[in-house]
Amino acid sequence: MTQDELKQAVARAARDYVADRLPQGAILGVGTGSTANFFIDELAAIKGRLGGTVASSEATAKRLAGHGIRVLDLNDIDAMGIYVDGADEIDHGLAMVKGGGGALTREKIVAAVAETFVCICDASKRVPVMGRFPLPVEVIPMARAHVARELQKLGGAPRLREGFVTDNGNLILDVHGLSITDPAGMEQVINQIVGVVTNGLFALRGADLLLLASPHGVQTFQR
Ligand code: A5P
Repeated sequence: MTQDELKQAVARAARDYVADRLPQGAILGVGTGSTANFFIDELAAIKGRLGGTVASSEATAKRLAGHGIRVLDLNDIDAMGIYVDGADEIDHGLAMVKGGGGALTREKIVAAVAETFVCICDASKRVPVMGRFPLPVEVIPMARAHVARELQKLGGAPRLREGFVTDNGNLILDVHGLSITDPAGMEQVINQIVGVVTNGLFALRGADLLLLASPHGVQTFQR
């Protein structure tokens, strides 16, 4: 199976999960990235069940709207049952590195509101220790050099994502060379650096459920 076929399979499994578990008319959070895009395309089949969606990026909002799926402002809702999103890496405790697509801050905000975070991945994303995928850190532009120096002190090698501006008007530093043995601790330490908006570690609020596609089928892992 190709990686796209695995993404398609896990997207379908997530659609079925949502159809089974999300009460009729409830709000669904929708992530960003290529796996999330497959999920959005699957979602079109059950859009009548949804009260609306909240998008974690402009790109996702556009794709949802393209299917005629209602997109709401997060400030206009009181509760969100499920949030479905991909990850760049996920460990066995269901902590994740996210932000390869640069949407980490909005993803983290939407995830904070959701009751259940469902991560959808192909098997290549599951790792014993995260850090091989460079950790994205969203930074206020004037703090770029300061934050980069602080990240170096933590043992990382930050590189500016060239030509990229986030939906929030900020920059991304991709931090290479980290071995993330304490994801929750590192998430907190990086968030304390002045000028950091968010970092791509999702450990304090990790996934509740992982749907993982391999050539043998889609497996479910629970936190
Ligand atoms: C977007 O900013 C990311 O957090 C994505 O969720 C993550 O990069 C996974 O993307 P793919 O499904 O494209 O691998």
